[in-house]
Amino acid sequence: MSRSSAISADHKKVFEVPAGLDPLRMPDHIAVIMDGNGRWAKARGLPRIMGHRAGVEALKTTLRLCSDWGIGALTVYAFSTENWSRPGDEVNFLMALFERVLQRELESLQREEVCINFLGDLEALPERLQDLIAEATELTSTNEGIHFNVCTNYGGRRELVLAAQKLAERAAKGDLDPALIDENVFAAELFTSTEVDPDLLIRTSGERRISNFLLWQLAYAEIHVTDVLWPDFDASALTHALLDYQSRCRRFGGLDPIESDHLSS
Ligand code: IPE
Ligand code: IPE
Ligand code: MG
Repeated sequence: MSRSSAISADHKKVFEVPAGLDPLRMPDHIAVIMDGNGRWAKARGLPRIMGHRAGVEALKTTLRLCSDWGIGALTVYAFSTENWSRPGDEVNFLMALFERVLQRELESLQREEVCINFLGDLEALPERLQDLIAEATELTSTNEGIHFNVCTNYGGRRELVLAAQKLAERAAKGDLDPALIDENVFAAELFTSTEVDPDLLIRTSGERRISNFLLWQLAYAEIHVTDVLWPDFDASALTHALLDYQSRCRRFGGLDPIESDHLSS
């Protein structure tokens, strides 16, 4: 694959990216709804859990590529608050898989300077997984590489309710004047308080919905839906998503800069 790179005006490190992509216009933060593991397995006559296993490999590849291409943060949807409604065997398999993979990959995450965090209501997870999460989070907390956020038992509505509860508690104690609650104060109570909002949301497997993912944070994300099933997501699919992202004109409610220049001249 041919590559392109450039030196930014402020002399920040610029990463090599596949040809056709502008290294100066990469998203700072990518969010991914990793969907389609079950269909991937079904298409091969395999049990659904084999799709989840294959999905781990796609995730490792995606994390490596995002890190190599200079993306600041990758936030992935691994298990939703609604996924508990799946058959017990599948849920148990997923919990055991998260534990196994985290244990196995911790050393290489540390070596690659990845800073890992788990977003969601973690107290409902099996205790051993909670311990491992605490260990991984602590161990990698000072790493200076990509921020890798794994949404586990995550629900956007649950996150908003928890934030409202925390603010209400502070107000009831007299520590917070309700009149001072603005968007920044609210966002500081979310699981993502230390991240910029995602610039790009990718959903695999063709579904055109956000399934309770990052309801607040996706306010102005560009959305890329691909029919590729998550276990098949690779460098070419990620490049495709980034090309799509770079072709968009982000207006944030304003006007296209070209249109704006035209009007003022
Ligand atoms: C996404 O794949 C993984 C999780 C939700 C844990 P699915 O398991 O939803 O796969 P499909 O959508 O049934 O194909
Ligand atoms: C969203 O996928 C959740 C994750 C990828 C973890 P789902 O497969 O659960 O979403 P729906 O049911 O298609 O909306
Ligand atoms: Mg699904």
